[in-house]
Amino acid sequence: MSNYHVEPVDKPQALATEALKSLRNHPVQGMSRRRLLRVSLGGGIALWLTEMAGGFLALFWPNLEGGFGDTHFRIGTLEDVKLQNSTLPVASGFPSYFPDARAFIVLIDPARQAFVAGEDIEGDGTALNVRALYQRCPHLGCKPNPCLKNYWLECPCHGSRYDRLGIKAAGVAYGPAPRGMDRFALTVEADGVLYLNTSKITLGPLPIAVGQPGIIPPKSPTGCI
Ligand code: FES
Repeated sequence: MSNYHVEPVDKPQALATEALKSLRNHPVQGMSRRRLLRVSLGGGIALWLTEMAGGFLALFWPNLEGGFGDTHFRIGTLEDVKLQNSTLPVASGFPSYFPDARAFIVLIDPARQAFVAGEDIEGDGTALNVRALYQRCPHLGCKPNPCLKNYWLECPCHGSRYDRLGIKAAGVAYGPAPRGMDRFALTVEADGVLYLNTSKITLGPLPIAVGQPGIIPPKSPTGCI
């Protein structure tokens, strides 16, 4: 007589149904495929929303009322600026950095070696022969650095490039910032002393294509980043 026991044909089917029921009622160990998909989708949406919020803040803050404080900074005359940045070619229009004011000071027309008395609440500075640029890159807020090779300001974070007066060069090759660097309101007293009002910030203008009027070409084809 054989040692093997053969089940009737219908019995394995009954067992398989029970096993399936048990599997359905048993909680899944680890993460199910459906949950994994939900988590991935949720993560992607959260990331997108964060990027959108960052972009919105970068575009509009601190142009919302108040800037970063109602503060006036005394910068001094052009001669003071040259003395404080004696290793830099400030007289030929290279931007000089004033960390307390979080600003770059730039002589607009190097042919005129002085700031001109007056007030400029929009921060354009053409009439005063000086512009004060907020140090914050309009993309996501890093600090661009002036480059001695090309006299441009270059952002080390994502490569946005601005001419020495803060005009953003148009095109993806020049980085993702949506506009030029923002500007502070200025006053130049009769004695040629420059003051900044860092509570008054004006948005930088839209980017301009290199070669078009309104942007100063780089002094060299290559930069510092
Ligand atoms: Fe992104 Fe400056 S922060 S390019």
